[in-house]
Amino acid sequence: MTKFFLSLAVCAALACAQNPFSKVAPDKKASEAFENIKVLNDDPSTSVRGAMEYFNQALGVTCEGCHDLQAFDKDAKNMKKTAREMITMTRDINKNAFRGQQRITCFTCHQGNQQPTGVAPTPKPVNAPPPPMTRFPQGQAPKADEIIAKYHTAIGGAEKAAKIKTFVAKASETEPDGKTASVELRASGDKVSVETKTADRAVTEVSDGKDAWGKAAGQGPAGVYHVTDQLAPLLAHESEVYPGSRILSAAPAMRVVGTTKIGDRDALMMFPAQRSATNDRFYFDKDSGLLLRQVYSVGTLFGPLPTQIDYEDYRDVEGVKMPFKVKITRPEGVWSRTITSIKPNAPVDDASFAK
Ligand code: HEC
Ligand code: HEC
Repeated sequence: MTKFFLSLAVCAALACAQNPFSKVAPDKKASEAFENIKVLNDDPSTSVRGAMEYFNQALGVTCEGCHDLQAFDKDAKNMKKTAREMITMTRDINKNAFRGQQRITCFTCHQGNQQPTGVAPTPKPVNAPPPPMTRFPQGQAPKADEIIAKYHTAIGGAEKAAKIKTFVAKASETEPDGKTASVELRASGDKVSVETKTADRAVTEVSDGKDAWGKAAGQGPAGVYHVTDQLAPLLAHESEVYPGSRILSAAPAMRVVGTTKIGDRDALMMFPAQRSATNDRFYFDKDSGLLLRQVYSVGTLFGPLPTQIDYEDYRDVEGVKMPFKVKITRPEGVWSRTITSIKPNAPVDDASFAK
């Protein structure tokens, strides 16, 4: 199962007749693409899937908590009916109390539980200690552009890295369900295609930097599907073998806030200077200067879904250091990818990115 098809894993297991999002299209409203929409009427049909994935995480349930998996349009469960009331309530709170900004989310109250509790727990629970973060005293943090320059020196120089315009990489991946997949990545500029094959399924997902779509065959729902608009850039992020390409332009908007530990490494934490939709955060190895981690969020109709990507095992590829171990963590689970071969500047036909 690839990242964007994951929510349908449950569907594949139960062999749903078809992909419930097959009629989604950028020019269709939710009410036009689906059968039984009562509150999301005018929202883009492409945003429904992200909202549903967000509900799973915010309430700690699966799709089945609210739906009959053979008929997503039916109102077979009370949970679905209550969710409609909750959608209206949440939107009203944000509209009336927060000038229309998305400040209250399903998670604000539910915290990953089906039923929120308003009762303070006794005794006070001992929370897992947060990862220790040491803030730099006022005015003593290193400058973001210095850290980014150090990173570029560490990988072999920005000019050299910029010369890599295309690549074809092969990898093996362990999926959240424990299955092993073989992955082929093709990239050219901001276009990327990711082909994932497991023993019983093949999925190809493509982003042209603006829009994204996929094609699935084998066990489970098949056919072509649209990936929501917000997820398109993420597909590109997750396939970056030179993840620094975007960081170069980010420096003026970033600041170094403190240090933390990632494994046994000391990491410098770089956060956006202003609140931003994706809230991109970067963690650099304090000694080597290499990028250890990036974290960012994708907005859904009701709240953000985070992704964390960890990089390890940097190796030299034609003078540029690239991470050969990549771990992608999303609320649904962890994908561990090991690059087995990479060909920089290999010819990549534009047909690889055609719909
Ligand atoms: C907390 C409850 C809840 C969860 C969990 C949930 N949904 Fe929904 N879903 C709804 C509600 C409510 C609607 C109807 C929205 C409306 O009426 O505007 C809906 C509508 C849909 C529709 C449109 C059906 C149609 O044709 O009318 C699809 C498809 C769908 N959900 C898929 C999913 C999938 C897949 C998951 C798991 C990733 C999921 N949902 C998880 C509450 C939920
Ligand atoms: C202001 C707090 C708050 C927000 C925001 C909120 N909820 Fe709730 N929700 C509750 C409370 C409280 C209950 C329990 C109500 C009860 O037991 O009568 C509940 C119950 C539910 C239930 C029924 C659970 C069950 O076991 O039957 C669903 C489904 C649900 N919420 C979905 C959502 C969704 C989806 C969102 C975001 C669109 C959301 N809620 C946002 C407070 C909230």
